[in-house]
Amino acid sequence: MGTTTRGQDLPRIDLRGFTSPLHPLRRLSEELGVEVWCKRDDVGSVGLAGNKVRKLEMELGHALALGATHIVTEGSRHSNATRAAAAAAAALGLRCTLVLCHDEPTEPVGNLLLDGLFGADLRLVGDVSWVELAEVTAGVVRDLEGASERVYRLPIGSATGRGATSFARAFAEAEEQIRAQGADFATIVHASSAGSTHAGLVLGRAIRRRSTRIVGVVVAGEVYDDVPGNYLRLAREAAAFISPETSVGASDIELTEAYLGQGYGQPTPGVPEAIDLMARLEGIVVDPVYTAKAAAALIDLARTGQLQGPVLFWHTGGYHAMFDPALAARVWSEVPRLRGIRLTPAPAPGGSTRS
Ligand SMILES: Cc1ncc(COP(=O)(O)O)c(C=O)c1O
Repeated sequence: MGTTTRGQDLPRIDLRGFTSPLHPLRRLSEELGVEVWCKRDDVGSVGLAGNKVRKLEMELGHALALGATHIVTEGSRHSNATRAAAAAAAALGLRCTLVLCHDEPTEPVGNLLLDGLFGADLRLVGDVSWVELAEVTAGVVRDLEGASERVYRLPIGSATGRGATSFARAFAEAEEQIRAQGADFATIVHASSAGSTHAGLVLGRAIRRRSTRIVGVVVAGEVYDDVPGNYLRLAREAAAFISPETSVGASDIELTEAYLGQGYGQPTPGVPEAIDLMARLEGIVVDPVYTAKAAAALIDLARTGQLQGPVLFWHTGGYHAMFDPALAARVWSEVPRLRGIRLTPAPAPGGSTRS
């Protein structure tokens, strides 16, 4: 881990050390009547993995090449992107400042606990909009630069064309992995917010000249004024880095907001069932903020005959939200089979309480 290489002239730091597994989800496939496979980007090394680590390999490779000493990025207090950035910065010996929005917890939980453990300087700014958050972060960068820090700012979700190149390569990686197992995928379903995962996969498909359907399940509204337009921009920026001859158009971007509910982190009817099925049938954790919404989309589209198999569920990580007490309590109350589980000691035989 930590080796720098140059792929197509872009510096890249190896933060994972191995290729994430890809395997069939046999029991879920049986349940849904559609062949489902899973790309396990939730499994990995630095910072407990996730899709952001792929992008950070590119972004932090660039930051080191520029001589940066301090990484600054922003996101929600649930953000996996900021947690992954803090972990990667720790592993590379860089300082890291995270500017985090949404209601402030009184205790450090979930990703916030990890952010602190990884040594990041945490600036909690409360319930501000994404636009306000970006402005506050710009101010933090100015202050650090004024204090002679060599800052590299990662935009929200590490959404850059450079970062997206990692997912163009990931498309080819997944294709080779599934073919080596004598299969292929017709559709990919993944959670989507700031967009570089989708942009990269779409570019990867274009480079490989495939007709795979790639469905980005939007899990955060209002990240951009023009969401598809920004995704397309990211895909084109990524293409300019690694495959300038490849063209990507607006019709290549396929997003659905049907599983977003009231917005980022808000409950939807499909989330508890998705968490339940993935856990009960496959022993895989999907979280209520990101991947359960994508899994809920997959389940619904499969059941309503709108999904051509084989389907690759791209698990983008992020199960740490499950350990945020508020979200954990919500999952516990919403998954029907959990409600029956007794969490208090059973009365001793004969009716008296055990001591
Ligand atoms: C677990 C998880 N899945 C999906 C996403 C969305 O990725 P992207 O920002 O590339 O759209 C994120 C990032 O916020 C994430 O943390």
